[in-house]
Amino acid sequence: MQVVTSPLRIGIAGLGTVGAAVISLLDRQSADLAGRIGREIRVTAVSARDKGKERGIDVARLPWFEDAVALAGSREIDLFVELIGGEGGMALEAVEAALRSGKSVVTANKALLAKHGMRLAALAEEKGAALAFEASVAGGIPIVKTLREGLAGNSIERVYGILNGTCNYILSRMELEGLSFEQCLREAQALGYAEADPTFDIGGFDTAHKLAILTTLAFGTAIDAGAIAIEGIERVTLADLEAAAELGYRIKLLGVAARTAAGIEQRVHPTMVPRSSAIAQVMGVTNAVTIDADAVHELTLVGPGAGGAATASAIVADIADIARGVRTAPFGRPVATLATAPYAPMQLHEGGYYIRLSVYDRPGAAAAIATRMAERSISLESIVQRRRKGSGSEATGAVPVVLITYATHEQTIRQALDAVVADGYIAEKPQVIRIERE
Ligand SMILES: NC(=O)c1ccc[n+]([C@@H]2O[C@H](COP(=O)([O-])OP(=O)(O)OC[C@H]3O[C@@H](n4cnc5c(N)ncnc54)[C@H](OP(=O)(O)O)[C@@H]3O)[C@@H](O)[C@H]2O)c1
Repeated sequence: MQVVTSPLRIGIAGLGTVGAAVISLLDRQSADLAGRIGREIRVTAVSARDKGKERGIDVARLPWFEDAVALAGSREIDLFVELIGGEGGMALEAVEAALRSGKSVVTANKALLAKHGMRLAALAEEKGAALAFEASVAGGIPIVKTLREGLAGNSIERVYGILNGTCNYILSRMELEGLSFEQCLREAQALGYAEADPTFDIGGFDTAHKLAILTTLAFGTAIDAGAIAIEGIERVTLADLEAAAELGYRIKLLGVAARTAAGIEQRVHPTMVPRSSAIAQVMGVTNAVTIDADAVHELTLVGPGAGGAATASAIVADIADIARGVRTAPFGRPVATLATAPYAPMQLHEGGYYIRLSVYDRPGAAAAIATRMAERSISLESIVQRRRKGSGSEATGAVPVVLITYATHEQTIRQALDAVVADGYIAEKPQVIRIERE
């Protein structure tokens, strides 16, 4: 490692929740960091939209750039920190400008990486610059470094996690307080956990961006966020949470990437996890990631997935690495060696299923459903008729029936349910929640 003693001059674009927290943390930790690294880290310029905005930090002493791209290309900085956000626009232009000028980049921007990560990593590699993004997945949890470096000696079988605090908060509140999805979403918005337009979080898209990054780090495949099967938590009801509890499960929105016979599978959906599992214990806005790997067996990291200070912690760790002269391939291996093989299609997913049907109280209904399952060799672990309360089926006079299947293929379940719907015994679209094995 080359020993450098001059200060590392950093330029920060974006002074919102995360940018302001990075400046505060660097201020607070500057002496300790310099001691650890053997080199001072100095913020030398900043950029945001509104120079006059009160941010709770003193930036008046720093040179201000109206244009983040100009800051990224400036000779006054050695490292560019992008904290603007968004998959394109100014964030992309500025990151490209910094890398093109040979500067290393630190970013927390999962949307940008999910869309342009391969191209940006190739550019960083070509220029001999670092592209670091610890904060882009699970905030303060050092999951990127764990996968990229800490587990380099392992073959990873599966990585899965609670990657969106808003969704976990809503599901936790629903389960613990017996509140509806809509009530919990309103509460999350009032507390500032959910955006005014929460689609990105509750629809599973934010989790998918993070999963795309984890998949590449874990399996050495090229990022392909478009290949991820995505379902959000909007259709999870109190009836599902109650049934899950009685059956020994909890429902979590998981991002899962797994090595399967059909290839690497990537999926985001509400998931039944065994109540005894480490991931099931994670409640509220907290994030968690579990890794199944051959040498370590199972590893779970739990911690704050968002918030200024926790996210800044990850950003400062990246800055410290770059200050020390560490240059790791952004995704753990050279871009040219990342495999571009297609991901496994969701129809080939194999696992157990929870199915909740609103069944009209008519003779022959239960037998017809059982027949449709048997026709496709779907084995049922249990079939339970439940109370009507909270299932949404009061108005139709239908009765909730919950089926738990043994492992079968997604396409087989879908075909069986199409046949059940066509038989006309059920009042609403079947609820299907995948069960994740421990
Ligand atoms: N918040 C979290 O907990 C968290 C956690 C993990 C990762 N992240 C990621 O961190 C990044 C920043 O998030 P944040 O929550 O800090 O966002 P934020 O509070 O909305 O801050 C965004 C900042 O970018 C600035 N900005 C917007 N457009 C700009 C432009 N064209 N040129 C220069 N600056 C511009 C804004 O300027 P003004 O202040 O002048 O309007 C603001 O300071 C995002 O990629 C996000 O996904 C956030």
